Amino acid sequence: MGKNEVFFVNQNKIVFAKDGEILSDVCDRAGYPLDLVCGGKGTCGKCKVTIEVDEKQSEVLACLTEVNRNISVYLIKNDIKKDAKILSNGIKLKEYRGCISKKDFEIDKYKVKHCGNYFDQIKIDDNTDISLGNLMKFSNLIKKTNDITVIYENNEVLDVREKTSDLDLYGAAVDIGTTTVVMFLYNITNFELMGVYSATNGQTSVGADVISRILYASNDDGLKQLNDKIIKTINQLIDKAEETHKGVVGNLYKMILCGNSTMQQLFLNLNPENLGTSPFLSVTQDLVKGNARELNIKGNKNMKFEFLPLLGGFVGGDTVSVLASLGDTKENKLVIDLGTNGELAIGKPGKYLVASTACGPALEGAGISCGMRGTEGAIERFKILDDEIKIDVIGNSQPTGICGSGIVDIISELLDHNFIDRTGKLLDKEEYIAKQGRTKLADNLMEIDGIKSFLINRDGNKTVYINQKDIRQIQLAKSAIVSGCKILIKESGLREEEISEIVLSGAFGNYINIKNAVNIGLLPNIKDIPIESIGNGAGLGVQKYLLSKETRSLVNKIKENSQHIELSMNREFQNEYISNMHFE
Ligand code: FES
Repeated sequence: MGKNEVFFVNQNKIVFAKDGEILSDVCDRAGYPLDLVCGGKGTCGKCKVTIEVDEKQSEVLACLTEVNRNISVYLIKNDIKKDAKILSNGIKLKEYRGCISKKDFEIDKYKVKHCGNYFDQIKIDDNTDISLGNLMKFSNLIKKTNDITVIYENNEVLDVREKTSDLDLYGAAVDIGTTTVVMFLYNITNFELMGVYSATNGQTSVGADVISRILYASNDDGLKQLNDKIIKTINQLIDKAEETHKGVVGNLYKMILCGNSTMQQLFLNLNPENLGTSPFLSVTQDLVKGNARELNIKGNKNMKFEFLPLLGGFVGGDTVSVLASLGDTKENKLVIDLGTNGELAIGKPGKYLVASTACGPALEGAGISCGMRGTEGAIERFKILDDEIKIDVIGNSQPTGICGSGIVDIISELLDHNFIDRTGKLLDKEEYIAKQGRTKLADNLMEIDGIKSFLINRDGNKTVYINQKDIRQIQLAKSAIVSGCKILIKESGLREEEISEIVLSGAFGNYINIKNAVNIGLLPNIKDIPIESIGNGAGLGVQKYLLSKETRSLVNKIKENSQHIELSMNREFQNEYISNMHFE
């Protein structure tokens, strides 16, 4: 390829790079993708690696470093991006009411009415439709055999095949998250969940959040690259399914997808540019149906896909899916879907008010000094007991950072033990001792990298801490969410006692300690209203849509009866945002 040799010392691997090639791209190509949290803008520092040039070692940001001569790269395990803990709960319905069906026929060529036709024999009702391609296939098939199987999508003939005993048909429900993609594979002949497959969204290599993806899409060829990446991720999941269940690809006839507004545009190869700035416009917010072939998705060549509709602005098909997962409830609920973005809804299917709130990626560990995704080495639980720190680390390994649930615990505990005051100020050691007396943990208050910090753990040469800047980031995020909730409650006209439940959806919501989240003001504190975490609500809803007719009607009802509120234009939201910044 080029002439510069790049030696990955710890992996014992050499690849070659063209002059000027960016080091993070070289790492990616070599099979060692880095976690480019800021999308390679040089602002997050998460791609820092040690390199050696002319026997001199230095630390560089891989996303900004051009390779112009031979170098050695010292990558350690934690530098390389790992798949995060992914929520992937499947469902089991008692009855399949999907839109794909099959029927076996024995065509009797001699029983056809005089001057009649064959197609009438495979119609399931008066409106049965067939494409010319399938009609030609049917015509060729009945020359060879009388025994055929017809596959229908509702009353349209989707495929005509020679009858084989035990033909299994498959359908997939796919939740495209900004960070992770989860695919639920069903045998839609007997509605059995065959497997759940997940992977990091290939687009994360160009940025962690939707705004960086939108910006990237505006570059030459950027949209095509992002579209290719998500299609590649989905095809990898289908390949994984094929490895465990031979024949899936040829018999996959239906795919239902959901995702936020940006994911919808990028999956459909639609320009998302106008979604990035006010007034936040999408090319379409309708349910989009099509032939999966047009998007190069693997499966039967007649496979159809549907992408769930959007509700407005950044409130996309993933929120529709979460709301659909709750069923056609008569009770009013406040729904909070926490992921890379925060989506909120209040009401019930006949009338939902929805909004999105830019809480930033801090709750996922991005933009936090020692923040990381929920992967091995992340502190996921934190408690102060008898003046001692107790932590749980994912994978029971040496702590290398803090993920979202750990951050919530840390802030809550530091507040309760008076290391942080209600304004969010982290006390310095002297101030703390003057107020609380000398405790063992007083020494953990220290300056790290010139910023007031609280030391969480020091192990060998790895120091994990939280600092004043991190606390401010969390204050911004929690205020955005709780202020959005307050505005929605107000605009809905519902009294607090008319809300039956607060529902928390999404990976982050599933792992946080709800009590601590309420304590730091991340979730609204409404007396006597239960808070329930439902896990991956978007994943649940999209499966139900694949499998049940009722959910398909419910999605229409939600789409037709929801109203979107743009919070950034709402003056009261700005006031709430400022007043909710402090810890209560
Ligand atoms: S600084 Fe390189 S990815 Fe953020």
